[in-house]
Amino acid sequence: MKEIKLSLFGFGNVGKAVSRVLLEKGVFFREKYGVEFKVVSIADTSGVVWLPEGIDLREALIIRENFGKLSAWTNDYEVYNFTPDEAVREIDADVVIDVTNDRNAWRWHLAALREGKGVITSNKPPLAFHYAELTKEAERRDVPYLFEATVMAGTPVIGLLRENLLGDAVERIDAVLNATTTFILSRMEVGLNFEDALREAQALGIAERDPSGDILGIDAGYKATILHCVAFSPVTFDEVRVRGIAEVTPDEVRRARAKGKTVRLVATVERGEVTVEPKEVPLESPLAVGSHENAAVIKTDLLGELLIKGAGAGLKETASGVVSDIIKASLRL
Ligand code: HSE
Repeated sequence: MKEIKLSLFGFGNVGKAVSRVLLEKGVFFREKYGVEFKVVSIADTSGVVWLPEGIDLREALIIRENFGKLSAWTNDYEVYNFTPDEAVREIDADVVIDVTNDRNAWRWHLAALREGKGVITSNKPPLAFHYAELTKEAERRDVPYLFEATVMAGTPVIGLLRENLLGDAVERIDAVLNATTTFILSRMEVGLNFEDALREAQALGIAERDPSGDILGIDAGYKATILHCVAFSPVTFDEVRVRGIAEVTPDEVRRARAKGKTVRLVATVERGEVTVEPKEVPLESPLAVGSHENAAVIKTDLLGELLIKGAGAGLKETASGVVSDIIKASLRL
């Protein structure tokens, strides 16, 4: 049995969902892959719990649920005040998992890679601003740097582009990459106003903690940037043209519907050009997704048009991408 030591950063909704999957599917992973996971540290904004022998995830989840922060857990575990940078250097782990919203996490991703640790993340800004630097460092150190859950949650569009279609040249990607805006637009179609629709999306855990990034198209812009990096070449979010749905009126939404169309926030990714903007798409188009779905139509020279469609948000759906990467990294190590 191969034992893999994991160091988890972020114990909010996604961190908890990942922990639940590791806890509940441990036997499945042992039997299917011959891998056993030992979570040696968990960090939230209150501190870092570190136990080289492995943390009891069941207890960690109970503490977090009952007290809202890990630092309340002082009976059996030491709580350290490491910065993430110190933690990735200090803590002996094979794989660092970043499920935080830390915009500056790229610095400690780099530090972890330089320590020879694999890095797995669902955090978009590090990739949207520092893709080239991070992937180059991972290559140089020959360690995995995996980020499936940054785009379309667990729906494996990154794997598809990074590990398959290797002989194809991608020509273009048209995609709906943000679930919150789809949710709001479709609720507007049935007469709900913007604010009420947004509140519903937040209650469902689809919208980001600060939903302005969803509404303004920034979240979709980050994801489209990452798709360009993987399908074509590295770019940064600063090079992307983004217009969100803040100015879309209920009237426009209803008029589109009357024409047999629907308004969706569409990302278009071509070599050297990434745009995100609201567009009318025919109801029969694969981009006319509903609820928390995302879709991407990938056009390549050999295969023609390929459609990948599935959950693009949600907690267990995001955990699916993160855990898949954890297993992928573990099999490589
Ligand atoms: N807030 C995101 C969305 C969730 O609405 O798609 C996952 O990135």
